[in-house]
Amino acid sequence: MPKKPDVKDYIRTIVDFPHEGIMFRDVTTLFEDPRGFRMAIDQMLHPYAGEQIDKVVGLEARGFILGGAIAHQLSVGFVPIRKKGKLPGTTISEEYKLEYGEAIVEIHDDAIKPGEKVLVVDDLLATGGTAGAGIKLIQRLGGDIISCAFIVDLPELGGRKLLEAQGMDVHVLCE
Ligand code: PRP
Ligand code: ADE
Repeated sequence: MPKKPDVKDYIRTIVDFPHEGIMFRDVTTLFEDPRGFRMAIDQMLHPYAGEQIDKVVGLEARGFILGGAIAHQLSVGFVPIRKKGKLPGTTISEEYKLEYGEAIVEIHDDAIKPGEKVLVVDDLLATGGTAGAGIKLIQRLGGDIISCAFIVDLPELGGRKLLEAQGMDVHVLCE
Protein backbone atom coordinates (compact mmCIF):
# COMPACT_ATOMS: atom_id res chain seq x y z
CA MET A 1 0.00 0.00 0.00
CA PRO A 2 1.39 3.46 -0.84
CA LYS A 3 2.59 5.48 2.20
CA LYS A 4 0.14 8.15 3.44
CA PRO A 5 1.65 11.58 2.70
CA ASP A 6 3.23 13.33 5.64
CA VAL A 7 3.74 17.10 6.17
CA LYS A 8 7.45 16.58 5.45
CA ASP A 9 6.65 15.23 1.97
CA TYR A 10 5.30 18.66 0.92
CA ILE A 11 8.37 20.67 2.04
CA ARG A 12 11.18 21.20 -0.44
CA THR A 13 14.80 22.10 0.20
CA ILE A 14 16.54 24.87 -1.73
CA VAL A 15 20.31 24.58 -1.46
CA ASP A 16 22.41 27.76 -0.89
CA PHE A 17 19.44 30.11 -0.28
CA PRO A 18 19.62 32.90 0.77
CA HIS A 19 23.39 32.33 1.23
CA GLU A 20 25.89 29.61 0.38
CA GLY A 21 25.77 26.81 2.93
CA ILE A 22 22.10 27.31 3.94
CA MET A 23 19.68 24.46 3.21
CA PHE A 24 16.47 26.46 2.97
CA ARG A 25 13.39 24.46 4.00
CA ASP A 26 10.73 25.90 1.71
CA VAL A 27 7.16 25.51 2.97
CA THR A 28 5.55 27.34 0.02
CA THR A 29 5.14 23.93 -1.65
CA LEU A 30 3.18 22.78 1.40
CA PHE A 31 1.04 25.94 1.45
CA GLU A 32 0.15 25.62 -2.24
CA ASP A 33 -1.14 22.06 -1.87
CA PRO A 34 -4.70 21.95 -0.42
CA ARG A 35 -4.11 18.63 1.37
CA GLY A 36 -0.72 19.70 2.64
CA PHE A 37 -1.96 23.06 3.93
CA ARG A 38 -5.01 21.58 5.68
CA MET A 39 -2.87 18.80 7.18
CA ALA A 40 -0.41 21.34 8.58
CA ILE A 41 -3.14 23.56 10.11
CA ASP A 42 -5.02 20.58 11.59
CA GLN A 43 -1.86 19.05 13.06
CA MET A 44 -0.66 22.39 14.47
CA LEU A 45 -4.04 22.86 16.20
CA HIS A 46 -4.30 19.30 17.53
CA PRO A 47 -2.32 19.77 20.80
CA TYR A 48 -4.52 22.71 21.86
CA ALA A 49 -7.94 21.07 21.68
CA GLY A 50 -9.96 22.34 24.64
CA GLU A 51 -7.32 24.93 25.68
CA GLN A 52 -8.22 28.57 26.12
CA ILE A 53 -6.44 30.73 23.53
CA ASP A 54 -7.29 34.44 23.28
CA LYS A 55 -4.92 35.52 20.50
CA VAL A 56 -2.70 33.95 17.86
CA VAL A 57 0.56 35.80 17.20
CA GLY A 58 2.24 35.13 13.84
CA LEU A 59 5.88 35.89 13.04
CA GLU A 60 6.65 37.53 9.69
CA ALA A 61 6.31 36.31 7.09
CA ARG A 62 5.18 32.70 6.85
CA GLY A 63 3.81 32.80 10.39
CA PHE A 64 1.14 35.17 9.01
CA ILE A 65 -0.18 32.53 6.61
CA LEU A 66 -0.30 29.82 9.28
CA GLY A 67 -1.37 32.11 12.11
CA GLY A 68 -4.21 33.61 10.08
CA ALA A 69 -5.63 30.19 9.27
CA ILE A 70 -5.21 28.98 12.87
CA ALA A 71 -6.82 32.13 14.36
CA HIS A 72 -9.74 31.75 11.94
CA GLN A 73 -10.18 28.12 12.95
CA LEU A 74 -10.13 29.07 16.66
CA SER A 75 -12.35 32.15 16.10
CA VAL A 76 -9.82 34.37 17.89
CA GLY A 77 -7.89 37.46 16.86
CA PHE A 78 -4.59 37.47 15.00
CA VAL A 79 -1.62 39.71 15.86
CA PRO A 80 1.38 40.17 13.53
CA ILE A 81 4.96 40.56 14.73
CA ARG A 82 6.71 42.37 11.89
CA LYS A 83 10.21 43.32 10.83
CA LYS A 84 11.18 46.88 11.83
CA GLY A 85 9.37 49.79 10.19
CA LYS A 86 6.33 47.95 8.82
CA LEU A 87 3.69 48.45 11.53
CA PRO A 88 1.89 51.81 11.37
CA GLY A 89 0.97 52.33 15.04
CA THR A 90 3.07 52.75 18.19
CA THR A 91 5.34 49.73 18.58
CA ILE A 92 7.84 48.13 20.91
CA SER A 93 10.86 46.33 19.41
CA GLU A 94 13.44 43.62 20.06
CA GLU A 95 16.71 42.95 18.24
CA TYR A 96 17.84 39.38 17.56
CA LYS A 97 20.36 37.22 15.68
CA LEU A 98 19.42 34.87 12.82
CA GLU A 99 21.07 31.82 11.25
CA TYR A 100 22.05 34.29 8.51
CA GLY A 101 22.12 37.84 9.87
CA GLU A 102 20.51 40.18 12.38
CA ALA A 103 17.09 41.82 12.53
CA ILE A 104 14.63 43.80 14.64
CA VAL A 105 11.01 42.78 15.15
CA GLU A 106 8.10 44.90 16.38
CA ILE A 107 4.58 44.56 17.74
CA HIS A 108 1.88 47.19 18.24
CA ASP A 109 2.03 48.16 21.91
CA ASP A 110 -1.75 47.72 22.33
CA ALA A 111 -2.08 44.42 20.42
CA ILE A 112 -1.98 42.13 23.48
CA LYS A 113 -3.75 42.89 26.77
CA PRO A 114 -2.16 41.80 30.07
CA GLY A 115 -3.15 38.22 30.91
CA GLU A 116 -4.29 37.29 27.40
CA LYS A 117 -3.45 33.70 26.50
CA VAL A 118 -1.32 33.66 23.39
CA LEU A 119 -0.32 30.98 20.88
CA VAL A 120 2.84 31.89 18.91
CA VAL A 121 3.02 30.53 15.35
CA ASP A 122 5.75 30.37 12.70
CA ASP A 123 6.79 28.02 9.92
CA LEU A 124 10.25 27.13 11.18
CA LEU A 125 12.40 27.12 14.31
CA ALA A 126 16.15 27.39 13.65
CA THR A 127 18.30 29.29 16.20
CA GLY A 128 15.19 30.45 18.03
CA GLY A 129 16.25 34.09 17.58
CA THR A 130 13.04 35.18 15.86
CA ALA A 131 10.68 33.30 18.19
CA GLY A 132 12.74 34.36 21.23
CA ALA A 133 12.43 38.03 20.27
CA GLY A 134 8.69 37.57 19.61
CA ILE A 135 8.25 35.93 23.01
CA LYS A 136 10.00 38.87 24.71
CA LEU A 137 7.67 41.34 22.95
CA ILE A 138 4.54 39.43 24.01
CA GLN A 139 5.81 39.09 27.58
CA ARG A 140 6.63 42.82 27.74
CA LEU A 141 2.95 43.49 26.96
CA GLY A 142 1.88 41.09 29.73
CA GLY A 143 0.72 38.28 27.44
CA ASP A 144 0.63 34.74 28.82
CA ILE A 145 2.22 32.47 26.17
CA ILE A 146 0.57 29.09 26.35
CA SER A 147 2.66 27.53 23.56
CA CYS A 148 4.72 28.03 20.41
CA ALA A 149 3.84 26.02 17.28
CA PHE A 150 6.01 25.44 14.21
CA ILE A 151 5.94 23.17 11.19
CA VAL A 152 9.69 22.51 11.13
CA ASP A 153 12.39 22.39 13.81
CA LEU A 154 16.07 22.35 12.82
CA PRO A 155 17.36 20.67 16.01
CA GLU A 156 21.06 21.18 15.23
CA LEU A 157 20.53 24.96 15.55
CA GLY A 158 19.25 24.67 19.13
CA GLY A 159 16.15 26.88 18.95
CA ARG A 160 13.84 24.41 20.62
CA LYS A 161 16.23 23.87 23.55
CA LEU A 162 16.56 27.64 23.93
CA LEU A 163 12.81 28.21 24.07
CA GLU A 164 12.22 25.25 26.38
CA ALA A 165 14.98 26.54 28.71
CA GLN A 166 12.86 29.72 28.97
CA GLY A 167 9.93 27.60 30.12
CA MET A 168 8.13 27.61 26.76
CA ASP A 169 5.91 24.75 25.59
CA VAL A 170 6.98 23.97 22.00
CA HIS A 171 5.16 21.88 19.38
CA VAL A 172 6.62 21.04 15.97
CA LEU A 173 5.30 18.82 13.18
CA CYS A 174 8.67 17.59 11.90
CA GLU A 175 12.45 17.93 12.12
C1 PRP B 1 12.70 32.38 8.88
C2 PRP B 1 11.58 31.55 9.46
C3 PRP B 1 11.57 31.99 10.89
C4 PRP B 1 13.03 32.26 11.18
C5 PRP B 1 13.61 31.12 11.96
O1 PRP B 1 12.24 33.66 8.61
O2 PRP B 1 10.36 31.79 8.80
O3 PRP B 1 10.78 33.15 11.11
O4 PRP B 1 13.68 32.36 9.91
O5 PRP B 1 14.97 31.33 12.24
P1 PRP B 1 15.53 31.50 13.71
O6 PRP B 1 14.92 30.45 14.57
O7 PRP B 1 17.02 31.30 13.55
O8 PRP B 1 15.22 32.88 14.17
P2 PRP B 1 13.19 34.74 7.91
O9 PRP B 1 14.06 35.38 8.95
O10 PRP B 1 13.85 34.09 6.74
O11 PRP B 1 12.19 35.90 7.50
P3 PRP B 1 10.98 35.97 6.44
O12 PRP B 1 9.96 34.97 6.90
O13 PRP B 1 10.49 37.38 6.61
O14 PRP B 1 11.53 35.67 5.09
N1 ADE C 1 15.19 30.27 8.71
C1 ADE C 1 16.38 30.07 9.27
N2 ADE C 1 17.00 29.01 8.74
C2 ADE C 1 16.16 28.52 7.81
C3 ADE C 1 16.22 27.42 6.93
N3 ADE C 1 17.28 26.62 6.90
N4 ADE C 1 15.20 27.20 6.10
C4 ADE C 1 14.12 28.02 6.12
N5 ADE C 1 14.01 29.08 6.92
C5 ADE C 1 15.02 29.32 7.76
